[in-house]
Amino acid sequence: MTILFVGDVVGGIGKRTLLGLLPSLSERFEPQFIVVNAENAAGGIGITPKIADDLFANGVDVITLGNHTYRHREIYEYLDAHERILRPANFLRSQPGHGSCVVEHEGVRLGVVSLSGNLFMNAGRPAFAEVDAALHAMKGKVDHVLVDMHAEATSEKVGMGWHLDGRVTAVVGTHTHVPTADARVLPEGTAYITDVGMTGPRGGVIGVKRELALEAMVTKMPIKFETSADDPWLNGVVIRSSENMRADSIELVLEPARAGTA
Ligand SMILES: [Fe+2]
Ligand SMILES: [Fe+2]
Repeated sequence: MTILFVGDVVGGIGKRTLLGLLPSLSERFEPQFIVVNAENAAGGIGITPKIADDLFANGVDVITLGNHTYRHREIYEYLDAHERILRPANFLRSQPGHGSCVVEHEGVRLGVVSLSGNLFMNAGRPAFAEVDAALHAMKGKVDHVLVDMHAEATSEKVGMGWHLDGRVTAVVGTHTHVPTADARVLPEGTAYITDVGMTGPRGGVIGVKRELALEAMVTKMPIKFETSADDPWLNGVVIRSSENMRADSIELVLEPARAGTA
């Protein structure tokens, strides 16, 4: 069983980078499941139904989100109506959408859980307690579980990795848009990385045009941000497994956009 997980898709440029590379990545890694964090896909913040439909139509099995989930009002109903798009499970129950789903290919059932960190993030409920509840609800219904821990603090993500080691197939961190060098399989068999990175313009500041981001940092004045178009890359990981709820390996995938596609 192989999962391709792709880090935060940023803007149209990120989406085009992803869609341009998906055929060759699919050929190279033969993933059974493709899971994509797309919380920045709509102009750099949030997602729209049209973009979600486009990702699903191109072979994405599950979309995960994060702190920018509710930026575009038109996604609210879509989140309730579509099983395979997830906002963090530890948001308030009253907020639109849901935080986990199960997808099945060739008799293999993958559960996916979206989580938000609590440190420096605005999630209504605790990530650690809610992931336990989500896993309990999936018990007996899945062969593998992938958890997207969308969080700012490295400590909280490392903690989540240890909390879930041996209980899920993979815990992948997202949100910081910068890949970390700690991808590994933990001792009890869970693939882990603190941050997968982003799929978008590496020439900006985590997705924003660098001159605008720098102006805001230097002047301390409010600046309207735009998505950079400079040097798009795809950041992802490939997780392989030969045993239920255990990973054999986790490998970083860092690919420049295919010429002419982004
Ligand atoms: Fe993001
Ligand atoms: Fe985020």
